[in-house]
Amino acid sequence: MSVHVIADTADKRAALHAMLREQQAVTSELLSGTSPQCSEVDAVVVTADLRSVENITALKGLSANIAHIRKRIFLIDQKERLFTVQAYALGATRVLISPVKRASLLAQLADSIPRENSSNDALHGAGEAASAGAIAFGAMFSAVLSGKPIDVRGAKDAGSRIADSIAEDGLSSWIEAVRRHHEATYQHCLLVTGVAIDFGLSLGLAKKDIERLHSAAMFHDIGKARIPLAILDKPGRLDDEERALIQTHPAAGWEVLKGSVGISPEILDAVRHHHEYLDGSGYPDALCAASISDIVRILTISDIFAALIERRTYKPTMPREKAYEILQGMHGKLEMPLVAAFRDVALNR
Ligand SMILES: [Fe+2]
Ligand SMILES: [Fe+2]
Repeated sequence: MSVHVIADTADKRAALHAMLREQQAVTSELLSGTSPQCSEVDAVVVTADLRSVENITALKGLSANIAHIRKRIFLIDQKERLFTVQAYALGATRVLISPVKRASLLAQLADSIPRENSSNDALHGAGEAASAGAIAFGAMFSAVLSGKPIDVRGAKDAGSRIADSIAEDGLSSWIEAVRRHHEATYQHCLLVTGVAIDFGLSLGLAKKDIERLHSAAMFHDIGKARIPLAILDKPGRLDDEERALIQTHPAAGWEVLKGSVGISPEILDAVRHHHEYLDGSGYPDALCAASISDIVRILTISDIFAALIERRTYKPTMPREKAYEILQGMHGKLEMPLVAAFRDVALNR
């Protein structure tokens, strides 16, 4: 595997170079805002202090130049979540906190996947749309954490790009590309958006309705920016207190978005109500069937399915067939004719 290192100081550059050179073909350079010399590498490792305005500016300039590299690991100096989401907004596919152990970095570099060959255009196209989506989610979460305005236009554009990718390359390529390169919350948001779009396409929805659907999906979990990562990423079961906290995310998302230009009442409704069930057992408002719109019903099915098929490091990935069986068992909660219509999306597309 070939790796290119970009560092904000000579010391960090030398240390990383030394750490990697035995097992990888390594090149390196200093972060300076110039175009990096890394057109043909398998991975790029970027290490920089994100408190520095100069570094952020240089990394912004760099992000388009490294976007084609399938693995983009950012090492950051601060543990705060704001810096992590900023790294994702700058194009990271993985973020690690410095100092990083050699074994962990090598494991991240080795994790998964031979280089995609050029004949697999579908996967390549899906990978690029997924990267654009992940950058939009990083920017959104970063805006929430720092109290800045959300780039609604940017998120909607990323949603349109995902819709184009799904229409062109299909849902299976999308799921594969997203599972390969993205983790946790962003993986989930990308999967939900892709699944919802494909569900909309399979239902024959008009272009305008598909746009509504992917906008709702892009924003649906924005409230998770307010939930501590220790809870969001906790492997295994949550206790009652943790579950109560996680259940605040739909209302938190609604709160965050309600004043934003470009957010329609129907997106706000979807953000607030994507965990409601037809029998009134959902949250936060315990709505019953009559108050739950079609777009929310479609989003809820897509959301549950996407959550079930996510790739997690601590458990095997659930097959799509098994995830669909679980949806079929949710009588009373989901609209069963819609679940039946979802069959083709879940299993075949
Ligand atoms: Fe949610
Ligand atoms: Fe979700």
